[in-house]
Formats: sequence, structure tokens, C-alpha cells
Amino acid sequence: MSSAPFPGVERVLFTEEQIRTRIRDVAAEISRNYEGKTIKLIGVLKGSIFFLTALAREIEVPLKLDFLGISSFSNKSGAPGVVRIAKDLDESIEGEDVILVEDIVDTGFTLRYLLQTLAGRAPNSLAVCTFLDRNVRRIVQVRVDYHCFEIPDRFVVGFGLDYHQLYRNLPCVAVMKPDKSV
Ligand code: IMP
Ligand code: MG
Repeated sequence: MSSAPFPGVERVLFTEEQIRTRIRDVAAEISRNYEGKTIKLIGVLKGSIFFLTALAREIEVPLKLDFLGISSFSNKSGAPGVVRIAKDLDESIEGEDVILVEDIVDTGFTLRYLLQTLAGRAPNSLAVCTFLDRNVRRIVQVRVDYHCFEIPDRFVVGFGLDYHQLYRNLPCVAVMKPDKSV
């Protein structure tokens, strides 16, 4: 990838090929763990859709899809972690084997909220699969069952992840320059 048409991008962190290989591995692990079951994959809009479609094509057990839209914002004192559902699921997850698919787990606030909300809807099981895991910035402890990559404390874009809604369509994951000058 040339960074010329992508101002603000510093360097590639994971190539398309590395991403494809890791997704295949994670999908194989999921396929083994859910043998004989039907999975309900729930994607969190919009960041997870590139990962979700790539993952879903590699999973070898039957699956259904649904999507959640969320908005997160800071409270009056500037603390992060206020999350609300902007678009709810189309269908009930009662009795289903749910895997929540995220683009990135960072502080963990978003995931904690989503897990609490979904657990209250009586799924048969509830697991988390995230494309990226930035464990070093975790504030609330949340369970992550599957991840493709752990990443350092740098802002990243591509493969669904955005900077002001841009760069989701990069086929790789790239690190933004520290000053993020676009
Ligand atoms: P958390 O609640 O802090 O775990 O926030 C997770 C959300 O923040 C993700 O779903 C992303 O939408 C966003 N986010 C966190 N880090 C990055 C990043 O490096 N690039 C793009 N989006 C990010
Ligand atoms: Mg997200």
C-alpha cells in the first residue's frame, strides 16, 4: 500500500496476507468449538463489518447474522464509557449460540455494555471475537474469547477501522501518525 493517497497514515502494521491467515486460524478454532451447532454472529456497526464478512466466509458451521449499531460518547466530566444502542438487533437471541464480533476492544467500556445488554436476553451462550485487542489500554476487565491480533498503544485504521469515518476500506491495518494530521 502506498501511503500517498492516505494522508496521516504512518505505516502498515498488518498486511492483507497476514490478516487473511489469522482470520482463517480463528475461523477454524470457532468451527471446531461450535461443531454441531448453529452460530448467531452479531456484528457491531460499522467497524466490524469487514472483519465479520471475512470471518463468516471461513467458518464451516451454519451461521446466521444480525447487527447492532451503537453510539458512544463521553459524559459531562469527559470520562469515556457512555454507550447506547442506536440500532437494535432485528431478531431475538434467546436460546442462540451468539458470538459478538467487534473491530477492536480498547478500554473495554463498549464491550462491557454490549455483553451486559445481550446477556440479559437469555442466549444459550455468548462469546466475543474481536479483530484487534489493545489490551494495554484496558480499563474495565472484559472477557475476550477470540482475537486476531494484539496491538500496541497506537491509533490504527483500515479493515473496517476509521479515523473520522475515513480509511475503513484499506485492505491492511495501518498506524496513524501520532499527530493524526490528515
Ligand atoms: P472501547 O469502549 O474503548 O473498548 O472502544 C472501542 C471502540 O473505540 C471501538 O469499537 C472503535 O470504534 C473505537 N476505537 C478504539 N481504538 C481505535 C483505533 O485505534 N482506531 C479506530 N477506532 C478505534
Ligand atoms: Mg466499534
